[in-house]
Amino acid sequence: MSATADLRLSFAVRPLTPKLGAEISGIELAKGVTPQVFRAIYDAFLRYQVLLFPPQDVPPAAQVAFARQFGEVQVHVMSMYHADGFPELYRLSNLDANGKPTGEHPDKGTLAWHTDGSWQRITGQVTIIYGEIVPETGGETHFCDMYGAYERLSPEWKARIANRRAVHNLDFSRTRRHGRDLMTEEQKREKPPVEQPIVRVHPETGRDCLYLGDHAEYIVGMPYDEGRALIEQLNALAVHPDLTYQHRWRAHELLLWDNRCVMHRATPYDPTTQARVVRRCTVLGEAPVGRVFR
Ligand SMILES: [Fe+2]
Repeated sequence: MSATADLRLSFAVRPLTPKLGAEISGIELAKGVTPQVFRAIYDAFLRYQVLLFPPQDVPPAAQVAFARQFGEVQVHVMSMYHADGFPELYRLSNLDANGKPTGEHPDKGTLAWHTDGSWQRITGQVTIIYGEIVPETGGETHFCDMYGAYERLSPEWKARIANRRAVHNLDFSRTRRHGRDLMTEEQKREKPPVEQPIVRVHPETGRDCLYLGDHAEYIVGMPYDEGRALIEQLNALAVHPDLTYQHRWRAHELLLWDNRCVMHRATPYDPTTQARVVRRCTVLGEAPVGRVFR
């Protein structure tokens, strides 16, 4: 039997939509993933952009170990979210010390379409999220395909954004979505705004993606308000129902996605009556490279 056949037998891939997302079954992540199986998972990750693993126990250490197979795991600047003694894990929970809902949504920034880590020079590659407790209604995670978002722009839109760069700023998006400034002066100094290309070349597939989202604040060389309006329009234009996957969580699922070619958002839930506890980590990718148009 060839190595390829062995790999085919080791897990099953079921597309979640015609264009985006696949479920991977037959892998127990807590037992660790061999390099050969990891390569096959990684191929599926590049092809489907979003991967779902069905409910299983994934302890924090196993989640971090799996993430490290993708690359260097980010330690998030907002240290208040660090989980289980693992600075790589970031827990989003609306429960108090007694396990009761606090009524507070822990990160309102996740409700707007965005891509993780676009606010730093080295942006997010994969984000891996594990659902410890999920609400009965709401708290879904939605994804949209940014290859398709770029492909479907009109020639006029493509011409408007060719060779343009946007400034991404975590302080801008946090303050905007929470209605108050959450970052300390030290955190702001540590993570100053950065310029990113709007048309990003995926470093592995070589395909062009629209690269914006909620952390994008303004456009270099364009009046601030004009750039703001253009970003808002493009973020809305990027979402096509047939290029979107809407994930309704079951507890103990693990979901991961490629931040270089999808945007995601969480949907609201009632944080006064429902519990939602998820832990996530993001692996660092690379500094984005823009498509050069002549
Ligand atoms: Fe996110």
